[in-house]
Amino acid sequence: MRDAYIVTSIRTPGCRRNKGAFRDTRPEDLLSFILSQAVEKTQNLEKKDVEDIMIGCSFPEAEQGLNIGRVASRMAGFPIETSGATVNRFCSSGLEAIALASLRVMAGWSEVVIGGGLESMTYVPMGGNLPRPHPDFMRQGAQVYTSMGVTAENVANRYGVSRQDQDEFAYQSQMKAAEAKKKGLYKELVPTPATRFVKQADGTFKKETFLQDFDDGIRENTTMEGLAGLRPVFAANGSVTAGNSSQMTDGAAAAIIMSEDKVKELGVKPLARFRYYTTIGCQPDEMGVGPRYAIPKLMKLSGMDLKDIGLFEINEAFASQALYCVRELGLDMDKINIHGGAIALGHPLGCTGAKLCATLLSNMQQHNVKYGVESMCIGGGMGAAALFELCD
Ligand SMILES: CC(C)(COP(=O)(O)OP(=O)(O)OC[C@H]1O[C@@H](n2cnc3c(N)ncnc32)[C@H](O)[C@@H]1OP(=O)(O)O)[C@@H](O)C(=O)NCCC(=O)NCCS
Repeated sequence: MRDAYIVTSIRTPGCRRNKGAFRDTRPEDLLSFILSQAVEKTQNLEKKDVEDIMIGCSFPEAEQGLNIGRVASRMAGFPIETSGATVNRFCSSGLEAIALASLRVMAGWSEVVIGGGLESMTYVPMGGNLPRPHPDFMRQGAQVYTSMGVTAENVANRYGVSRQDQDEFAYQSQMKAAEAKKKGLYKELVPTPATRFVKQADGTFKKETFLQDFDDGIRENTTMEGLAGLRPVFAANGSVTAGNSSQMTDGAAAAIIMSEDKVKELGVKPLARFRYYTTIGCQPDEMGVGPRYAIPKLMKLSGMDLKDIGLFEINEAFASQALYCVRELGLDMDKINIHGGAIALGHPLGCTGAKLCATLLSNMQQHNVKYGVESMCIGGGMGAAALFELCD
């Protein structure tokens, strides 16, 4: 198989559902912008070179439906020949899209493919607009539909992750993110045009555009006392709160994947090789344990050892599950989510896999780390993990 090179990996800011900067920005606009930016930021690449665009989206309906991969490619001005698809594996959708794009290149079927992700949790709610679980299957397999918050409570209860430890993890996420934001370390973030409707003197609304250049979910003023004061959201005597859960967020991200031939032809300096990707199933009612199984499977597949990995991006769907996985795998906390995670920065479902790829590669570059792993848990009971190798 050939190598698949990631030459550009970028993201929009992540902005809070309903309350954040992208609440009036259509998801198609976020995605078409980041796709165009990815091409513009890649030396000598033209839109006509891109053969296909694969976009992860967890709830691909309404404004982000109708095969958003194709719609956004047309909106972004790619030529008619550039095809587009939507990919769904819930929380790993964006990573799945990057893996599929990479496989196309590795198999020799394509020279340049974009893998990315999108979710506007403002426009399309988690669960979709009209969830319709199968009525007969509900009697025997209702677990597969378990609410994500309940799965987080289950992990906390079954594996003894205390409220105090969850809050401490959440606090660290906020502090790391606050520092990264202050020091301008989110090099992968592209300031993104956003829409707002401003009320005029005559009562009408005028559409305006502004540039959003930061993740607006970060709470710099978070304290342990403040977190301890929050009430559990998913169970009366539970431990999972708004403070130690991932935030619901709007955002988009994209990665450009190229063959070695194309890298040489364009004279591009690649960022990283996409080495391995794997997924695994686990019990749906404790889906958060996914990375605990996906990461060892990835290590076995790649013939590598956890101690060879310099940095991890493990999605913080909830502090309870992220902490459980880190503990079970015996990982060094200093290597995990060094610029904060989804508790501070948000988890725009289908975008997250592509967003974390951009963050991981940027961090690997900043710290000259050879091998990095991205992993997440997935609704319905799964884990995904990918291995990236920094290019010299
Ligand atoms: C937990 C959840 C229901 C909370 O939703 P929400 O109430 O809209 O959450 P918000 O972020 O708006 O926070 C609500 C309040 O909690 C408090 N709060 C949140 N984070 C806090 C912090 N770090 N410190 C102190 N207070 C905090 C604030 O009072 C906040 O209100 P404000 O925004 O007006 O200041 C929601 O974030 C959720 O479902 N998250 C998980 C999403 C999910 O399942 N994703 C898929 C995973 S697989």
